[in-house]
Amino acid sequence: MDDILIIGSGVAALRLATLISQDKNVRILTKSFIKNTNSYMAQGGIAAAIGIHDDPSKHFADTLEAGRFHNDEEIVREILNEAPLLIQELSKEGNIFDQTEDGNLLLGLEGAHSEKRIVHSGGDATGKNLIDYLIRNLTDNIRMEENTFAYQLILDQKQKRCIGVKAKSGDGTIRHFYGEYVVLATGGCGQLYSYSSGAPTVTGDGIAMAYLAGAEISDMEFIQFHPTLLYKNGETKGLISEAVRGEGAVLVTADGTPIMEGVHPMKDLAPRHVVSQTIFNYTEKGQDVYLDISAIRDFKQRFPSITAICEYNGVNLLEGRIPVVPGSHFSMGGIKTDLIGRTSINGLFAIGEAACTGLHGANRLASNSLLEGLYQGKRLSQWINKNMEKTLGVRHRVPKPIQPVQEKKSVLPDVQVLKERMMKMVGIVRSKELLEDQKNWLQQLHLNAFIELDSYSIEDINAIFMYITAYLITDAAWHRTESRGGHYRSDFPNEDENWCRETIIHKRKGEVM
Ligand code: SIN
Repeated sequence: MDDILIIGSGVAALRLATLISQDKNVRILTKSFIKNTNSYMAQGGIAAAIGIHDDPSKHFADTLEAGRFHNDEEIVREILNEAPLLIQELSKEGNIFDQTEDGNLLLGLEGAHSEKRIVHSGGDATGKNLIDYLIRNLTDNIRMEENTFAYQLILDQKQKRCIGVKAKSGDGTIRHFYGEYVVLATGGCGQLYSYSSGAPTVTGDGIAMAYLAGAEISDMEFIQFHPTLLYKNGETKGLISEAVRGEGAVLVTADGTPIMEGVHPMKDLAPRHVVSQTIFNYTEKGQDVYLDISAIRDFKQRFPSITAICEYNGVNLLEGRIPVVPGSHFSMGGIKTDLIGRTSINGLFAIGEAACTGLHGANRLASNSLLEGLYQGKRLSQWINKNMEKTLGVRHRVPKPIQPVQEKKSVLPDVQVLKERMMKMVGIVRSKELLEDQKNWLQQLHLNAFIELDSYSIEDINAIFMYITAYLITDAAWHRTESRGGHYRSDFPNEDENWCRETIIHKRKGEVM
């Protein structure tokens, strides 16, 4: 039995692991290899009010405005007040952030920020450099199990708490892991959509697992579509950071007409849902949209990763424009937690994108996600370091690994069908008709028949989790009869004040749906 069992290996997971005191045993289970996460791919940076004209109260106002006031204000205030300190600590420890010649941190601008406050590393390689730094700091008390797919929370019904997880290794062997505290840091669910900026690993596993175990899941209707994913040959090929617009790039049609003029006072740097919905209006009519980068000098130096993505996909940057479409980027909803990461199940915690603290409201402000992960990792480590000795560890007999048996085959449609349907029916623009169509389609698949998971392959369990998470998003979007942030309904195009503070919570009672 471990002291702390962490599922996932993004920024929140690794920050937590590295800050837990070294007299505790930590085990990290990750379904792929350690760097195959959204955190590693993050380009933009980390938002913190550290500029001389900036103040956490301005960061607070921008976060609420982007989140369309659905945010939990207390949580927003706490995290944003702490942000400058988190950056200072990391700068001192790791010295990974880009600086001016006189040693000040370079600050970038991104959408819906009223000040330059994005701390970055390696130009547009912030996630990579941050994760590499955290991996270098993993100590001997931390065991990393890669290619280990956690798929079921183990609950002690007498104690009414989560005590571990079941997981499958690559060859299908079932293993049981027990922990005093179990932390889900499995990321979001971007891969539920055919256009996505997400790592291949973000398929809603933690959210589905927590839901199946009876935890509360909240705000699932709020999916952020990032406006600018590179679009080539009918597919999305990776993110073109908002920092590119922060440096002066402009969204245009094929004939060069700027599309954000007159749409929002912040034009190309309007909140993401506004920009994505505007691009969508053009692409739906068959018009291509481009990011005109001709005003940016030294593009290659400032954005080396994006340059590499474009060149790899045959985009000639000398032409000064990059073809783009919006795609799913972030889930504002997730496993409902408090500031410490506690879920509605004792012993079970959630951090990072898998969690829903209320920081992001209906739409996340750019570069507030690595920030949230850093905050949560630190905050939960402090809580565990303080509370751990007080917990009486109950020892559990660890069953021998169960060798793979002949696995059943799920008869669910291929996930590509799901992704395309989610993009069309539960995507950037939704309506009662589209949502009902998707709900009915999901319901006739009878997901309840697939939740005895032991006998399925990893690939099938992954798909089952995607279907369950898709149902939670679709159902929440169907219930919310207004438009707000990342949730836009053509049949209810306006915000409705009565919905502002309403949170849609899913909690399983018997049937999955
Ligand atoms: C970006 O670089 O545009 C993404 C950053 C973020 O999602 O916060």
